[in-house]
Amino acid sequence: MWHYAGRDTAIDLGSATVRMHVEDRGVVCREPSLLARSRRTGAILALGAPALRMVGRDPDVRLVRPIREGAPTETDEAEYLMRQLVRIHHRRRLMARPRLVITVPSGMTSVHYRALQFSAYQAGVRRLTVVPTPIAAAVGMGMTGRGHEIAVIADIGAELTDVGVIAFGGLVTSHTAAVGGADLDRAIIALVKREHGVDLSAEAAEAAKIAVGTVPTLGRHAVRRTVVDGRDLQSGLPRRLILTTSDVQRAIEGPVSRIVEAVHQGLRGCTPEVAGELLAVGITLTGGTSRLPGLEKLIQERTGLGACIGDASGDAAVIGAARVQRTNDSQKPARDVTPHPRLLRTVPQP
Ligand SMILES: Nc1ncnc2c1ncn2[C@@H]1O[C@H](COP(=O)(O)OP(=O)(O)OP(=O)(O)O)[C@@H](O)[C@H]1O
Ligand SMILES: [Mg+2]
Repeated sequence: MWHYAGRDTAIDLGSATVRMHVEDRGVVCREPSLLARSRRTGAILALGAPALRMVGRDPDVRLVRPIREGAPTETDEAEYLMRQLVRIHHRRRLMARPRLVITVPSGMTSVHYRALQFSAYQAGVRRLTVVPTPIAAAVGMGMTGRGHEIAVIADIGAELTDVGVIAFGGLVTSHTAAVGGADLDRAIIALVKREHGVDLSAEAAEAAKIAVGTVPTLGRHAVRRTVVDGRDLQSGLPRRLILTTSDVQRAIEGPVSRIVEAVHQGLRGCTPEVAGELLAVGITLTGGTSRLPGLEKLIQERTGLGACIGDASGDAAVIGAARVQRTNDSQKPARDVTPHPRLLRTVPQP
């Protein structure tokens, strides 16, 4: 394969994390999908983890999250993010014009679709292909080959829950809901404000969720405690608090129910032929929020289907997208991958 213009690249453009896979090199980056911009000059100062470290410390720094609900909402910044990541991870930095495949929410609107198309081609991409996240995740987890005729994937990320029922490599039905881990963080911030009069940063709320969070009401979980630092709303001074598992459970009850409802909704459009088989295959969870302890049990209880975490690393979608690109390329599908041709859209340059 001639790599002069850049190796084939796959990107999972998540609202919280952007992951990139480069042909023959594997997953080369997992960066927070954000940029730091100077308020004064408008210049972009940092990208990814370094940008996150700048926030709240320098008054000149404004944090920009260019990807909301799985689509570029700030097209200039999204373009910069893609261009920089391609340059950093391709050795022919300024010349890199790779073929790119991007995972997209299965319910992406045409407006977001055009924004993505614009940002990717502006970033120097030679050819753009998009693949719905549930399909990419299923391919990445090896769930579309022989013996896996049907699969149900629920990708529960930071801002989206994307549920797809896949039969023979194609989507039978899907549902995308704007709810995810960021809603749990916001619910924790609201509870702490209401009950303790303390303002928490989104990062502190997320850390508390990961440290002691579990799904409410199901079974018994050991009560754990975590320390969080925030700002007292009355005095304006720093204040330290202890949050327990039950505080976090109480806070996140609402958004957790919305996530489970989204999974339920995703199954409703199934044809009766496929519905019967779902009992045997169950639901495979991917995405960071699927790691919330007890979530798979709650989904299992509410839907009556088995549920398990299929991908603890979060890389399944980007690995699957890269595999889809290879399969599409060789024209004759590899034996273990049978993506549906209608769902792999090569997007023309605008
Ligand atoms: N152990 C954990 N327990 C609970 N939540 C977690 C855990 N680890 C990560 N998360 C949450 O998962 C979310 C990030 O997941 P992921 O990387 O799949 O999102 P994304 O792909 O960037 O977003 P989206 O797919 O919604 O655009 C964050 O909200 C994070 O707080
Ligand atoms: Mg995601």
